[in-house]
Amino acid sequence: MRSETAPAIRLEEYQPPAYRIDTVHLDVQLDPAATTVTATLSLARQAGTKAGTPLVLDGDELTLTGLKLNGEELGSQDFTASADRLEINAPPASPFELTITTQINPGANTKLMGLYRSSGTFCTQCEAEGFRRITYFLDRPDVLAVYTTRLEAPKAECPVLLANGNLIETGGVAGSDRHYAVWHDPFPKPAYLFALVAGDLAQVPDRFTTASGRDVELNIYVEHGKEGLCDWAMDSLKRSMRWDEQVFGREYDLEVFNIVAVSNFNMGAMENKGLNIFNDKYVLADPDTATDQDYANIEAVIAHEYFHNWTGNRITCRDWFQLCLKEGLTVFRDQEFSADMRSRPVKRIADVRLLKSHQFPEDAGPLAHPVRPRIYHEINNFYTATVYEKGAEVVRMLKTLLGDDSFRAGLDLYFDRHDGQATTIEAFLACFEEAAAIDLSRFALWYEQAGTPVVAVQSEYDPERQTFTVKLSQEIPPVPGQKSSKPAVIPLRFGLIGPNGEDMDLSAPEGATVSGDVLVLDKAHQEVTFRDVASRPVLSLLRGFSAPIRLSQELQPDELLFLAAQDNDPFNRWQAVQTLAMQDLVRLSSLIRRGDSGKPSEDVIRVMGSVLTDTSLDAALRAQALTLPSEADVAQEIGKDVDPDAIFAARRLLREAIALSHGSELLPLITSLAPAGAYSPDAEAVGKRALANRALHYYAASGDDDAARLVWDRFVAADNMTDRLAALTLLVHDHMAQEEAALDHYRKRHEASSLAMDKWFMTQATAPGDRTLDKVRALMKHPLYDSSNPNRVRSLLQSFATGNPTQFARADGAGFELVAESVLAIDKRNPQVASRLLTSFRSWRALDPQRSVLAESALLRISSCEDLSRDSRDIVDRTLQ
Ligand code: PHE
Ligand code: ZN
Repeated sequence: MRSETAPAIRLEEYQPPAYRIDTVHLDVQLDPAATTVTATLSLARQAGTKAGTPLVLDGDELTLTGLKLNGEELGSQDFTASADRLEINAPPASPFELTITTQINPGANTKLMGLYRSSGTFCTQCEAEGFRRITYFLDRPDVLAVYTTRLEAPKAECPVLLANGNLIETGGVAGSDRHYAVWHDPFPKPAYLFALVAGDLAQVPDRFTTASGRDVELNIYVEHGKEGLCDWAMDSLKRSMRWDEQVFGREYDLEVFNIVAVSNFNMGAMENKGLNIFNDKYVLADPDTATDQDYANIEAVIAHEYFHNWTGNRITCRDWFQLCLKEGLTVFRDQEFSADMRSRPVKRIADVRLLKSHQFPEDAGPLAHPVRPRIYHEINNFYTATVYEKGAEVVRMLKTLLGDDSFRAGLDLYFDRHDGQATTIEAFLACFEEAAAIDLSRFALWYEQAGTPVVAVQSEYDPERQTFTVKLSQEIPPVPGQKSSKPAVIPLRFGLIGPNGEDMDLSAPEGATVSGDVLVLDKAHQEVTFRDVASRPVLSLLRGFSAPIRLSQELQPDELLFLAAQDNDPFNRWQAVQTLAMQDLVRLSSLIRRGDSGKPSEDVIRVMGSVLTDTSLDAALRAQALTLPSEADVAQEIGKDVDPDAIFAARRLLREAIALSHGSELLPLITSLAPAGAYSPDAEAVGKRALANRALHYYAASGDDDAARLVWDRFVAADNMTDRLAALTLLVHDHMAQEEAALDHYRKRHEASSLAMDKWFMTQATAPGDRTLDKVRALMKHPLYDSSNPNRVRSLLQSFATGNPTQFARADGAGFELVAESVLAIDKRNPQVASRLLTSFRSWRALDPQRSVLAESALLRISSCEDLSRDSRDIVDRTLQ
């Protein structure tokens, strides 16, 4: 029989907990196969709970070995226990103490939730519901307790013993080879923020003095031998701490801040109070093994987890529906941090690219859900681009609508009022309403409605009256469970550009709320008229991507060319180039689809040429403009009856045409841009490498021997991973003669670095061409492939499924089959990794009929599996609905 769908949890059914847990004392006797956890909880009935109400604690795969109430052994008639539940039938009326002993097997924990081992190190992951795999508990974010944790383990195997908070005691255990450490975290926290680490790790120490002069000990713990790879992470941490003081007035609050890097981790990283645990790919870096993108990611993720200390930990979520309360806000904060550390427009472009490539398809398919969902079956499946990235966009819009000062005042009020609490989106918005004296009830729809609003724009210039009229309308296309929608409050940053390329000075228009350069669209249809407009302007709308919407604006090619060359807003300049390229790619794809041979537009080729040679523009920005919309972006734009092969061919055609027309401009860019001196991940050096490698990408498209030689030479001579990987990708993806030689060369050089080898697997998995499928199957048997390591699985299978549209969606269905098989195999050991891989099917209905039938049968095959995890069951059910 088919496995059951887990019961639905609904926001409207929220009930406060019947009992409070004020303090938790944990005693953890660590052992690889039989760890004993003794939890002493001080409990009290909540006001409003009837005396004698049973106490029901959550568990998950637990074995109960002892249970005392106020120090007395509990009789079997007084409780019922199973692996996933402990019920105390009639707890006392006054506050009481419960002592629970459980036994767990961290060595056998392949789900990587709860207490598990990563390369021999004991570590934990408790968000969202992992603490219940350690002990029975009220495992919900609105139960806040003060934790004291005593860890005990053999000193030789586990010299390092870490938990949340401050270290208060250490010592040896008399008459044994064991030692212990006691940690105390004075800040009440939910169980999902609990963590412990024990093992033989190297310690990289540093210090930080807070704005108010408190001295904080900082440590990064890594496997021995990797101490030299922590400099950038540590530097990023200190910059994050300073920035949060300066920009948000938030200071760190404990005596120590520890980061541990582990190689087996389901997600990116985790913000456990005072003890962040990281996927090592977001900590370890040196120029030889990490790309510029890796450096930027490390900086962002270190900052993200650190910023959670205030947005997530000091103030947490009342329930998991409020996940965006901590995630959206914290992503917004890390985006702002990165923007301040680097180039703001370049960072914005990168963030918008990510939003459009990950969140927009999610929001347009069967897995669409509101930023704050109202229903879930498995919370692990809601760590989504919508909650994180769209959640951040909503906070950004709030800032745009309120202005910097009111936004800051609202946040200050939030920190002040809700410190120490588990709260809601309503409470968050109320702080801004109060601080800015504004009504946000309509704005709150952004949290309630799924789907990406489409804003249609038409404009008209009347030369006689000197008026410029903009007609706007908005609509959210239907998404699952939401047939109709209400108009959203959409802040549109804009400018009217005069013939001289300057923004016109505008007097307040009629028909809309405009403040400064922001026009607020809040009705289904709206007409705005600007007066005294001396000549026909070009409307630059949605500057800086001021709202997460799709714009349907009829701009003429000459207007787009004008914006690409003249817009004062760098984002919209980039957008204009992308729009021109996108229009052409859509046109070419449909020609190719029909069997015609298309010719790329001269306009696009010319624009690309001017970007190549415009030295007044920042190199990073030029590289971004020269990057064509991805295959997935084009597929999304086409929307239905998608043929990935035609899209691939269209991009190839355009790339070759650009290369052919601008051959002579490319070579100097490749050779002259190398930043001088030692490798540095600063914005300017990164931009130069990005532009040189973008130029190389075009140059290689000419396909001649000189080009192939240059790519190989750069591959061999590269003194940093960014250049080496860029060249390797060209050699492999363009199937150059030295493809295999390059892969060998790379493997020999980087065999010892697991993170570098992830890139080796990924490069091959994302190579176009119908030989890739067999190659991926062969790589699954490679000695370095490890199906128990989430990073390795993602580098081969996730990147195949999401980064290789023509091969995943092969017309013979073999790509879908490979991924379906893999989901089923992985699901048995690690449901979270499996269900994440399964989401790669989310756009299956947009494919052409032949392909969508094959995708559906792969999904049905998964669905018919009898013992699917709840994680994968939930995704497959929703994907097929
Ligand atoms: N809370 C983590 C973050 O965003 C993500 C995470 C979720 C990690 C669940 C592990 C498990 O920073
Ligand atoms: Zn987060």
